[in-house]
Amino acid sequence: MLIGVPLETAAGETRVSVTAETAKKLKAQGHTVRVQSGAGVAASVTDAAYAAAGAEIVDRAGAFGCELVLKVRGPDADELSLMKPGTVLVGMLNPFDRDGLARLAAAGLTSFALEAAPRTTRAQSMDVLSSQANIAGYKAVMIAANAYQRLFPMLMTAAGTIKAARVVILGVGVAGLQAIATAKRLGAVIEASDVRPSVKEQVESLGAKFIDVPYETAEEREAAEGVGGYARPMPQSWLDRQKVEVAKRVAQADVVISTALIPGRPAPVLITEDMVKSMKPGSVIVDMAAGRGPAGTDGNCPLTEAGKTVVKHGVTIVGETNLPALVAADASALYARNVLDFLKLVLSKDGTFQIPADDDIVAACLMTQGGQVKRS
Ligand code: NAI
Repeated sequence: MLIGVPLETAAGETRVSVTAETAKKLKAQGHTVRVQSGAGVAASVTDAAYAAAGAEIVDRAGAFGCELVLKVRGPDADELSLMKPGTVLVGMLNPFDRDGLARLAAAGLTSFALEAAPRTTRAQSMDVLSSQANIAGYKAVMIAANAYQRLFPMLMTAAGTIKAARVVILGVGVAGLQAIATAKRLGAVIEASDVRPSVKEQVESLGAKFIDVPYETAEEREAAEGVGGYARPMPQSWLDRQKVEVAKRVAQADVVISTALIPGRPAPVLITEDMVKSMKPGSVIVDMAAGRGPAGTDGNCPLTEAGKTVVKHGVTIVGETNLPALVAADASALYARNVLDFLKLVLSKDGTFQIPADDDIVAACLMTQGGQVKRS
C-alpha cells in the first residue's frame, strides 16, 4: 500500500499523523510510506529521521497522491483537490461536521474519523480522543501554573508561609482526570465536579474532593448515567443546583480548569460572568471547551474568547483551542500509535485495504464511501 503523510496546514496545527517510529513499523509491514518534506518538523521529527526509518520524502502532491492518506485534521478544499476518488483517508475528521463529511463524500473518498471509535476496551489503543485529551489536561495545568502569579504548592519559608493554590476542575473525563493528577503533583488543593456519578471514586482516588450535587429525580439520575460512557445534557433542575455549588467553589478558587463537553452538542455554560466577578484578582481560568460553546459564547465560560488569552474582571481567561498541538512531539507520538493500531483493522496481511464486514470499530469510524456519507 502507498501511504501518504502530508504536512498539516490548519492554523496552529503542529502534529503529524505518522512518526519515525510508526513509519518504521508500516515499512516493516511491507508498505511504502511517503512523507511530505517538513511534515514532522514542528513535532520534532526531521525528514532525516523519516528517511532513516525507511520512508520516502516527497512533495505535497506526492503525499496526497497516495492510495491511503493519513492526516491529523480534515482536509481543506485545496487538499481535497489533490486526492483521487477512491483514496482512503484516516484522521480526526470531525464526525459531527455534516458539511465537511458531505465534501469528503463528493470527492469520492473512503474516509474514517477516528474520534468516532466506540469507548470500548478493544478500541482503547486507537482512542484519539483519550490520547489527545490526556495531553491537553496536562498542558492546561502547565498553562494555568504559568499564568498564575503565585505558586501551586504550600511552602513554609523563613520569609513566611505561602498557601497552596486552590484548583477547581469542571468536567472529569480523560482531560479532567489528567488535570487533577497534574495539579496534585504540583501541590494544589483540588475540587472537581462532573455530572456522572461514576467519577466520584476516580476523583477521590487522585486525592481531590468531589463536589457532590445529589440527584433528586429518576430523570436526573438517568441523564447523569449518559450513553456509552458520555454525558447527556442534564435537566435544568440539577444544573441549577450544580451552579450554586460550583459558584461557591469558584469564588474561592485560584485556578479553574473547565473541560465539560457533551459530544455533538455545544458545551454547557458552567462559569457565568458573575462567577468570574466573584474570583480573586490574579485568578486563572483555562477553558478547555473554548471554541465549542453554545452560540454567542465560546466555551464553558461566556467570557472566554476562543484562541485568545484575555483578562476580564481581573481574571486571566485562557481560550486555547488546540492544547495537544502545544505538546506536538508527544501528542503526535500517541496519535501516530492510535492510527497505526486502527490500520491493523483495515489493512489485510497481504497489505491490501479491506473493510471487515463485522467490525464495530471500523463501522463506527467509516464516514464516507462510494460517494455517500455513511454516518447515520
Ligand atoms: P468529554 O471530553 O466528552 O467530556 C468531558 C467531561 O465533561 C465528561 O466527564 C462529562 O461527563 C463532563 N460534563 C458534561 N457536562 C457537564 C456538566 N454540565 N457539568 C460537569 N461536567 C460535565 O469526556 P471524555 O474525556 O471523552 O470521557 C467520556 C467518558 O468516556 C468518561 O467516562 C471516560 O472515562 C470514558 N472513557 C472510556 C474509555 C474506554 O472504556 N475505553 C476510553 C476513554 C474514555
